[in-house]
Amino acid sequence: MISSKHISLKYILKQLKLIAGILFGLGACTTSSTPTMRQAADQCGVNLGVAIHDRFFDTDSLNRYKKVICDNFNMIVAENAMKPDRIQPQKGTFYFQEVNELIRFAENHQLKLRGHCLVWHKQIPEWMSKDNYSKEELLSVLKTHIITTVRHCKGKIYAWDVVNEAIDEHQPDYMRPSVWMKTIGPSYIDSAFVWAHQADPEALLFYNDYDAEGINEKSDMVYELVKGMKDRGIPIDGVGLQCHFELGKIDFESIRNNMLRLHELGLQTQITELDISLDSSAVNVQSRQKQGDAYGHLCRLCLSDNQCTALVIWGVSDADSWIPQLSDYKRDKALLFDENFNKKPAFDTLYSTIKNAI
Ligand code: G3I
Repeated sequence: MISSKHISLKYILKQLKLIAGILFGLGACTTSSTPTMRQAADQCGVNLGVAIHDRFFDTDSLNRYKKVICDNFNMIVAENAMKPDRIQPQKGTFYFQEVNELIRFAENHQLKLRGHCLVWHKQIPEWMSKDNYSKEELLSVLKTHIITTVRHCKGKIYAWDVVNEAIDEHQPDYMRPSVWMKTIGPSYIDSAFVWAHQADPEALLFYNDYDAEGINEKSDMVYELVKGMKDRGIPIDGVGLQCHFELGKIDFESIRNNMLRLHELGLQTQITELDISLDSSAVNVQSRQKQGDAYGHLCRLCLSDNQCTALVIWGVSDADSWIPQLSDYKRDKALLFDENFNKKPAFDTLYSTIKNAI
């Protein structure tokens, strides 16, 4: 069920701050000195996350990278290190060294940890995606991966993206023809959630997808999928809206309406992979400011509804972003920090939005 735990804690915190404000004349988000963005997020009860690049694991010369994370965010998610190809490169051989490093880092710095992702059509090891498994064999492969991974991380993961990107609006049945779908059929989704819940009943469980943020054909299918899961009593807590956006193409009202209909099903939403890219040929003062405005707008949208329970940025600095390479360098500069970790207008606007949030 929904994390009534998290929602009510956030609610109680808000109420306490409001009472303190009334009694002592303080604003609910008031701080004694200038808070870091992380402190502001903590004080406002916002789960503000960032995706951790593989550079995190490289050397200890990366203190600067780690400091930027700790100063500005209260939640982390591995951009790649917790995907199946990294965790189970060979059948039955689980590699948890990087996962353990992330868990340690999160514990040492009181950061929440999101788990991404248990089931996807990409970044699965070759042995897993071979087509010659029978349905029973592949079910067993999936179950072993989920149970072993989630059990290893039990109590350490705040929320798992259990199934990622299973909907494909271009297919007649709207289901992505992944190895899971082709060999097992659509029931793999329910099974994955049931096994994840079995392995860690406290972790929140999410279905996560892209291009399904506003109301459209794809988000209608996501809605039908998760509604069906709720009706069948499958333990799903929420829907992750990835939010890989291009500046100028964001329909905030439509996103709000989509969030609302999901919340009405008794599900949370989280903004799980936010980045807002610019046209590489038009990176200038105006576009950078507009990008900031868009970050602020989305943040306010999430903060205005306590069932939108997290906002995660997909990477720290523009040096790490997946976007330039994947867009043939036509899109770029999508994140809050530039290549040298300088704060951009996007950072400033997000920061002030959070400070002014309550
Ligand atoms: O595995 C090789 C590794 O052996 C090699 O050393 C390294 C050198 O560049 O490349 C490695 O693979 C890359 C991998 O990231 C790990 O760095 C792949 O080439 C690269 O394609 C892969 O990109 C990731 C992408 O998912 C894969 O689909 C991005 O970093 C990551 O940001 C992106 O994240 C996804 C989310 O998981 C789901 N939603 C969409 C989002 C953006 O595509």
